Amino acid sequence: MTRKFFIGGNWKCNGTVDEVKKIVCMLNGGEVPCPNHIETIISPPFIFIPMVKSCLRTDFQVAAQNCWTKKGGAFTGEISAEMLKNLGVPWVILGHSERRTLMHETDQVVAEKVDYALSQGLKVCLCVGESLKERECNETAQVVSRQVQAVAARVGCWANVVIAYEPIWAIGTGKVASPEQAQEVHYNLRKWIDCHISCQVAQDIRIIYGGSVTAANCKQIGGQPDVDGFLVGGASLKEEFIEILNARN
Ligand code: G3P
Repeated sequence: MTRKFFIGGNWKCNGTVDEVKKIVCMLNGGEVPCPNHIETIISPPFIFIPMVKSCLRTDFQVAAQNCWTKKGGAFTGEISAEMLKNLGVPWVILGHSERRTLMHETDQVVAEKVDYALSQGLKVCLCVGESLKERECNETAQVVSRQVQAVAARVGCWANVVIAYEPIWAIGTGKVASPEQAQEVHYNLRKWIDCHISCQVAQDIRIIYGGSVTAANCKQIGGQPDVDGFLVGGASLKEEFIEILNARN
């Protein structure tokens, strides 16, 4: 089965009502590959999800940037998976390195979130990635496979999971991984999945790259055999995101 290219735009904690209107207008006017060739998710901050969802072109899907670990209740400030489901939001990004580092989300917490989100019928974009220190100590493969292993026992249907490899040292720094670096990590991760989960899952799962992706570097990275798309931060707020969506054209 050929893996459908997958590109996500992670807006992180950015936007005003006027800026969101402008970005959605830019996205709606962009010339992009048809949905048969690419799956696109747009992930605004929670507060803008209803507005984006009501105006965004229908060949793009909306994603949340996080959700709580369990059923909603006395958890002030949290958003539950069932709320996202109720709102018709199909995707959620989980385990982003900014949440792992700044909000101290452990592998265990991420696993609980993935488990609960999938149980509520959401599809999950699971973020993994190493720090600069871990890369310099040659621990990259160990780190990302540990992060995938932490959720593996809880995932019944891998068809609803996309893995985003986002080296922490490339996020927001302009220091993008080389195509060879990205391919090496994606290849090793797919091999790990083949050995520890199944050959079919390894063949079918989309492993996408994130970390300073731009219109200038997307074609080279996206042309790597085990790179199935991107999770884009800063550039997803700009016109160049349309060029990134056309990376494989
Ligand atoms: O989730 C995507 C994000 O972490 C990458 O950010 O700005 O380096 O593209 P950026």
